Amino acid sequence: MLEIRDLVVKYKTSKGSVSAVDRISLEIDKGTIFGLVGESGSGKTTLGLSILRILSPNASIESGDILVSGTNITRLKEREMRNWRGKKIAMVFQGAMSSLNPLMTVEEQVAEPLIIHENMERSLAKRKARDNLANVGLGENILKRYPHELSGGMKQRVVIAMAIIGHPELLIADEPTTALDVVTQHRIMKLFKALRDEYGITIIMISHDLPIVAEVANSMAIMYGGKISEVGNAREVVTKSKHPYTQGLIKSIPNPKSSEVIRGIPGEPVSLVNPSPGCRFYDRCSFRRDICKTYDYNPAVLDGQHKVYCNLYEAGKQ
Ligand SMILES: Nc1ncnc2c1ncn2[C@@H]1O[C@H](COP(=O)(O)OP(=O)(O)OP(=O)(O)O)[C@@H](O)[C@H]1O
Ligand code: SF4
Ligand SMILES: [Mg+2]
Repeated sequence: MLEIRDLVVKYKTSKGSVSAVDRISLEIDKGTIFGLVGESGSGKTTLGLSILRILSPNASIESGDILVSGTNITRLKEREMRNWRGKKIAMVFQGAMSSLNPLMTVEEQVAEPLIIHENMERSLAKRKARDNLANVGLGENILKRYPHELSGGMKQRVVIAMAIIGHPELLIADEPTTALDVVTQHRIMKLFKALRDEYGITIIMISHDLPIVAEVANSMAIMYGGKISEVGNAREVVTKSKHPYTQGLIKSIPNPKSSEVIRGIPGEPVSLVNPSPGCRFYDRCSFRRDICKTYDYNPAVLDGQHKVYCNLYEAGKQ
């Protein structure tokens, strides 16, 4: 359904060129949930925005292809791309639930874009809004409420209802559970599962929270410093992780049943401004070798879909 080939995205800044997405290749099957996990600044949002081609003006897709259901959207004219946004591909933006209009009721909030952008008749737009809110588990009792009268979980559902109103085939949800309590996070995950299983929507779930993604994702990619470090079936990536960064990430997940002190991965996230060649995890990796300074990242295929981009697993030597 989605295939990304060798994608390179950079931001121009006064300090230099930020290499936010560097030669990323991914394949995502139709009707699955794909988790995109990584720490802050690893390039997750940049990758999501690239798929919708709504990057900020200082950013550019330097090279690579993005194929959605066989169409190379990097080649589409901006006018053609508009037919894809919100319709075939939709996005729940990072932090969107805190930018709901405080002066509009939920019903107006969801119906308004249909009236303004699609010239839909007001009563029809309101009916569509009600139906979509019902699809995300929100009843009629919240229609006349304002955002400040909703819980965080309800606001996130409203934002999801707005994203799926055009029946997208692909939904990109950027940090949809951040700032929600644990119980509400699980409810949102249940909703994503239902959207996948009942409507066949393909979902890219972007998050820094590996355990919550692992709960629902069919497959998963771990990002570090603008690159994929490991990708594969979600269970395999979690239980048979191979990349030193993924292993560090998994070790730093607190276990509520253990009193063991959790140590995060030592060191600072790598700067993406004019980065040196070689492995981006080099400075923090306890397995690094000299060759990692110039390593050019061909993935080692470990088992079918499970790929790791690390020198320790050079293709054929694992
Ligand atoms: N508009 C911009 N101009 C310049 N640099 C940017 C811009 N947006 C993002 N970046 C840089 O690109 C890199 C990737 O950022 P991005 O927002 O994609 O990461 P992220 O993984 O989504 O992080 P977070 O978890 O904090 O949301 C970072 O180094 C960031 O500072
Ligand atoms: S390529 Fe080298 S530095 Fe990078 S994660 Fe693997 S062993 Fe560590
Ligand atoms: Mg982000």
